[in-house]
Order: sequence, then structure tokens, then C-alpha cells
Amino acid sequence: MSAKPEDFFKNIISHCKEYGFIFQSSEIYDGLSAVYDYGQNGAELKKNIREYWWRAMVQMHENIVGIDSAIFMHPTIWKASGHVDAFNDPLIDNKDSKKRYRADVLIEEHIAKIEDKINKEVDKAKKRFENFDEAMFRNTNARVVEYQTKINDIHSRFKTALNDNNLVQVKQIIVDCEIVCPISGTKNWTDVRQFNLMFSTSMGSVAEEGNTIYLRPETAQGIFVNYLNVQKTGRMKIPFGIAQTGKAFRNEIVARQFIFRMREFEQMEMQYFVKPGTEMNWYEYWKAARLKWHQTFGLGNENYKFHDHIKLAHYANAATDIEFNFPFGFKELEGIHSRTDFDLKQHEQFSGKKLQYFDSEENKSYVPYVVETSVGLDRLFLATLSASYKEETLDGGDTRVVLNLPPALAPIKAAVFPLVKKDGLPELAEKIINDLKFDHIVTYDEKDTVGKRYRRQDAIGTPYCITIDHQSLEDQTVTIRERDTMQQHRIAISSLLKFLNEKVSLTSLLKKL
Ligand code: GAP
Repeated sequence: MSAKPEDFFKNIISHCKEYGFIFQSSEIYDGLSAVYDYGQNGAELKKNIREYWWRAMVQMHENIVGIDSAIFMHPTIWKASGHVDAFNDPLIDNKDSKKRYRADVLIEEHIAKIEDKINKEVDKAKKRFENFDEAMFRNTNARVVEYQTKINDIHSRFKTALNDNNLVQVKQIIVDCEIVCPISGTKNWTDVRQFNLMFSTSMGSVAEEGNTIYLRPETAQGIFVNYLNVQKTGRMKIPFGIAQTGKAFRNEIVARQFIFRMREFEQMEMQYFVKPGTEMNWYEYWKAARLKWHQTFGLGNENYKFHDHIKLAHYANAATDIEFNFPFGFKELEGIHSRTDFDLKQHEQFSGKKLQYFDSEENKSYVPYVVETSVGLDRLFLATLSASYKEETLDGGDTRVVLNLPPALAPIKAAVFPLVKKDGLPELAEKIINDLKFDHIVTYDEKDTVGKRYRRQDAIGTPYCITIDHQSLEDQTVTIRERDTMQQHRIAISSLLKFLNEKVSLTSLLKKL
């Protein structure tokens, strides 16, 4: 029972709704575009992913501490950070479909299509030649060379246009590449315009211009403006990190693909303050460390790749994305940026306060450089859920939908079933739940056949089902059934807690780091 690729993503979205993971926000009022609510299972999965990130960052590193800064901040912060002037998306409209697109995304998708053509040529050649040498083929095959030249040309024009903020040139690339609107199929484009992504509101009772404040578009600035507070009160020595998780808001114009691009979302960011000149070593260190962390989810190492930025953000001297193979292709999951001393220097200038570090080994003060890791919690949720979602046909033709979630992240760790609703079995089930619930989220289910109860738990990714039968009353053992293999074995009730502690704790994931 495997869905066609085009249906697969739709099935995941329906599954999220049907099983209490994600609901459209304000659904009974017909919803609010690109805003979502997490249901009873989604909230648990999201909390577990957040907790795993927090422990991996803060608990596992003596030199990283966590904070929780406010969403509202002084408006000058966003002037200093560059967001008021430069946090823009280049947008273009198709006059026929009236659809709006990010110009940079249209160009990047066009490049990806040419890359696909190259890969197809390579695959064809691989099948034809036994001793296939890919590097030589890429240099000598006329069609591949032609495609690659095209890509290089677009890349270099695009990079120059973005760096010069030359929107006329960005449009010209779209025209020259003959990019058409996916809806209308026409090339009838407007000019490219910049659009600021910050939401604004006003503070206090009077909506005067001076009272305008912004909903933070990233959590990072809350860390920068607290750099000195944390460094001094925590007596932190460089290199050290400050971590934070929390909501961020962006008025995304092209908001699609479910929770991939939202207007209200959650970030998990860490700023690592380092000695100037050492930032590239730390940038490479965090690239490797973050990739390894993602790989511990067990979603398949082949589903991750790095994508170095062509255009660096206004604050960065190096930047890469960890991309994940989402149901709609490889897309950004996490950003790793070497932000230089840009932010702290800007805040020094705009606040008039010194934000320096006294290095006792060097006997001098300096503004630290920063390497940032920034991952979207909602995107990570989508990556985890979509790679775990399986539609399986079992021996005998029966089917099931199962979420092979990492057990430590599953919303519910074990479900306890009495085989029948009598003979003291429900009472024993309740006693077992009462023993386990201090350490784990466990649930009770007595409705329908045990088979149907297994299917309900498979669909939300519960790693273990515990069944109480008449033998349990005699020998104090139960059947435990494993979600992925569906294998069952008997286990003493007295060993259940130890068993679950070993199998479903975050420690098991942290030890893989
Ligand atoms: N402080 C740096 C920063 O915010 P970013 O690349 O703009 O960098 C970091 O965002 C991460 O936040 C992204 O890799 C993505 O996972 C997540 N993210 C950004 N915009 C998002 C959106 N509209 N919806 C969901 N997640 C988003």
C-alpha cells in the first residue's frame, strides 16, 4: 500500500489532522493562512524534539547556557540588526495568474531543473558504460558541459544582481531563462520589488509612530542584547554559547507547503561567541556537530546535505544550510552562519554601550565573533514526521499506517491494554499505568480488538504496547509488542519501568552524539 509521490504529502497532512498532530489555526473560522496549531500528539512530539535540542546544546556542553528572552524588544534593536532596512524578500507577480513568487526561489528552482537534467544524463551514461568515470564524463559530454555552463552563468549573474541589490537584473534573469508561472504558464511578469517581512504593532495606548514595535523575526537578537548580562553573571569564558528556543514571526508572502513556511513559527538558535580569527574553525566544527545531531534521529543519512549560500546575509562571512529531503525535495532545515562581530558591533553603536570581552590570556578586550546555529522547530517536526510516516502492506494483505518515530521522541511511550474488560485485567492495567506515569507518558485503551488498538498506536508512533491477559494475573508478566518489528515477548511487570527507561529515554539519543 504505497501512495503515489504526489499523494504522499497530502496523506501526511491528512494524517496530522486525523491523529491530533496539527490543525489549521482558527479552523472553525475557515482558518488563518500559514498559521497552525499543534494538537495533543503534535504538542508532545514538538516538546520532545525541543527538549532533545536543549539537552544536546545546554546539558551536554559545559560552556553553553540557555536563556528565554521576550518576544517584544526595543524597536532600535531591529534598526541595529539591519532587519528594518534589509530583511526583505524580492517578490514578483505573474500578471495573468495574479500569483506572487519570490524571485530568488523561481531562479533557484530553474537551476535545480537544469541540475536534474545533468543527473539524468549521468544516470543514463552509468547504465551504458561499465567503467564509468563521472568526473571525466562531466568534463567531456557536450550536453552536460552545455547545461553546466548555463548553471554557472545564471549563478554568477544572480550573485552579482543580489549583491548589488539590482532588482532590474533579477527580473532580467527570469526573462532570459524564460521562466514561466507554474499556474498560468505565461511569462507575463511584473517588476521585482522588495518586501519587508517583519510584523509590526504598537505598544501602549496610543498608536503613534514612535510606539511601533516589531514581533521578532528571529530569536537571535534576544541573545545578542543579553550577551554581556550572561557573560558577566555566568562568568563565561570565550568560547561560549547562549542557546534559546522561542517563537519568531515573518510575514511570509509565499507561505505554502504546510508547516514548512509559516508566519508564526519556532526557532532553536545558539550563538557561539569566539575569539576573532578562530571563527572559521568553529564554523566547520558546528557544521559537523549539527549534521551529526540530525543524523541521530535515524531518518537516513542520505536525506541530509549541505547547501552553501550564494548570497550571504548582511551579517555573515560564511553560511550554509543543512537541507533535508522533504516530501517535496531537498529544502533548508537548519542554517549555520558565521556572523562575524556584526551584531554586537551594531548594538554597541546603536545603544552606546560597550559589548566587549576581556581576554585575560591575550590581556586585551575585543568584540567577539559569532557562529550561529539556527534550526526551525516546525521544519524539524515536519522532517521527522514525514520521514517516519509509512504506509505498509503486511503478510496476509492487511495494511497499516505506522510512524517509525525515534522512540525517545514519540508522543506516547507505551499503551497499556487489558485483553478483556473484566476479570480484574483493567485494574491491573491501571496499576501498571500508575507505576509508569511518573517517568513516561503512557495511555490506556480497552476498546475494540487488540489488533485495532495496535493500529491506533502505530498511527501515532507509540513504540510499545503492553497487553495484560489472564496469565498476567497468575505470573505477573505481560506481553510487550514492538511497533516497528511487531514482535511480541513476555516480560515481568516489575521490569517494565527499567525496560522503558532504556528504550525510550533521550539519553539513548544523546549517547550517539
Ligand atoms: N537567526 C538566523 C535566522 O533566523 P534563517 O535561515 O532565516 O536564519 C533559521 O532561519 C531557520 O528558521 C531556518 O533554517 C528554518 O528552519 C526556520 N525558518 C525560517 N523561516 C521560517 C518560516 N517562515 N517557517 C518555518 N520555519 C522557518
